[in-house]
Amino acid sequence: MSEKIDFYNSLELTLIEAENLISDGVNNSKSMFHTPVLSTFVNETISTRTVVLREFNLKNRTLRFHTDSRSGKIEELKENSISSVHGYDPDLKVQIRLKGKTLVHINDEISKEAWAESREMSKMCYSVKDSPGIKISSPEPFDLIKEEIDIELGYDNFAVLLFSYDSLEFLFLKGAGHRRSLFDWNSSQLKSSWLIP
Ligand SMILES: Cc1cc2nc3c(=O)[nH]c(=O)nc-3n(C[C@H](O)[C@H](O)[C@H](O)COP(=O)(O)O)c2cc1C
Repeated sequence: MSEKIDFYNSLELTLIEAENLISDGVNNSKSMFHTPVLSTFVNETISTRTVVLREFNLKNRTLRFHTDSRSGKIEELKENSISSVHGYDPDLKVQIRLKGKTLVHINDEISKEAWAESREMSKMCYSVKDSPGIKISSPEPFDLIKEEIDIELGYDNFAVLLFSYDSLEFLFLKGAGHRRSLFDWNSSQLKSSWLIP
């Protein structure tokens, strides 16, 4: 983001700024949008966790995340796909909130492609012996030793989460006047509006 804040009084430029920040988050590990927070329902409560942003498809408004197919959130997401994604960059003073749905992809074309382009280091964690979240008496037996595992077998435990949003809320903090805006794709046409911060 440049010093001159072009988007400050423009809804159109605000949306472009938000999309650029999310897009930058894919490859820029220093960006706060590289590790956003994904919230989903677990029964009647909300579960929140940090995930790495792997891909952003602007046209489809989808964000791709990877996870372990044995984790509890997989079954929970199949029951209720409603989810939200949140990111805040304290340097830029920008918060982005997305609302939408998360679809799970296991052993299909989408997961195969995502696995093929994953780095060895990222693939490794899917070789952990048992399901994430299970209570254990000691952590050491679950440590991963590269030489002892066949990294490619981890694909059996690999899942892609495709989050698609139909609402984007942007908040920019500035002493003299915050800027908050909402972009909504729920109807056939995009509806953009300012909100009182
Ligand atoms: C920086 C960071 C990045 C993470 N990236 C992922 C990720 O891409 N996918 C994932 O499933 N968990 C990731 N985690 C771990 C999750 O935050 C969470 O602890 C784990 O997925 C278990 O959550 P669950 O019980 O809701 O399944 C990451 C955690 C941190 C701190």
